[in-house]
Amino acid sequence: EYVGVLHGLTQLETTLSERLGIRQVIIVPGDSETDSSVLRELGRTAAGILTECLQDNMIIAVSGGSTMARVAETVNVVLPTVTVVPARGGLGEQVEYQANIIAAVMATKLGGRYRLLHIPDGMSEEALDAVMASDANVSEIADMIKHADILIQGIGEAGTMSKRRSHEPETISFIGQNCVGEALGHYFSFSGECIYTTNSVGFRLDDLAKVGKVIAVAGGRHKAEAIVAVTRAAGQDVLVIDEAAARAIQSII
Ligand code: G3H
Repeated sequence: EYVGVLHGLTQLETTLSERLGIRQVIIVPGDSETDSSVLRELGRTAAGILTECLQDNMIIAVSGGSTMARVAETVNVVLPTVTVVPARGGLGEQVEYQANIIAAVMATKLGGRYRLLHIPDGMSEEALDAVMASDANVSEIADMIKHADILIQGIGEAGTMSKRRSHEPETISFIGQNCVGEALGHYFSFSGECIYTTNSVGFRLDDLAKVGKVIAVAGGRHKAEAIVAVTRAAGQDVLVIDEAAARAIQSII
């Protein structure tokens, strides 16, 4: 908030909080798309919000992505009783952006524990159900994810994410025509309707109600529509964005 006051962004934080229906919106000055120091600051700010909420024995579920990688790296508190889990299994991301890796990096920073989901990408619904039914470890972690005390997630542009995750060409074109935002493998229309979901273990939209606190973090003006879509779809408690995204969101809602 102090940073917001300094840069005159406090009014914009209040406006977006009202328009998006999110209790707390925090705006980091600058554009993370063009300035890597802003991306780092976005990560550091979200990590600060996360650590303010942390208490002993909590479970944190994390998404993947380059923004969340910055969040994990900049966590700066030690709390050994905390457990970090990936919010969902593999979604087809390159290794350093996978939620498993982000969870391990964050847990190491916290001096805490992590539990990972070792599930191959692109499995059918039936195969995933079979793994859940036969592997106690996977079903136990899936249960931890659903009851996490804190979920912290990135937000992606639907088209960019479907290409980055190498979906089938028909799926890429379907998503491109119908969706603007992506979070945790769910793809949303601008009005916040979930249009397509990648098969995977872990968090689903209906589980959101059971999670204590949801923090979303995203930056860059190109993510404006995606941020509106994802926040319309789900009840985030805190949204951490950069100034470029904030100004672009203001112009479309
Ligand atoms: O689900 C959203 C994506 O993980 C966002 O990825 O932070 O690399 O843009 P990004």
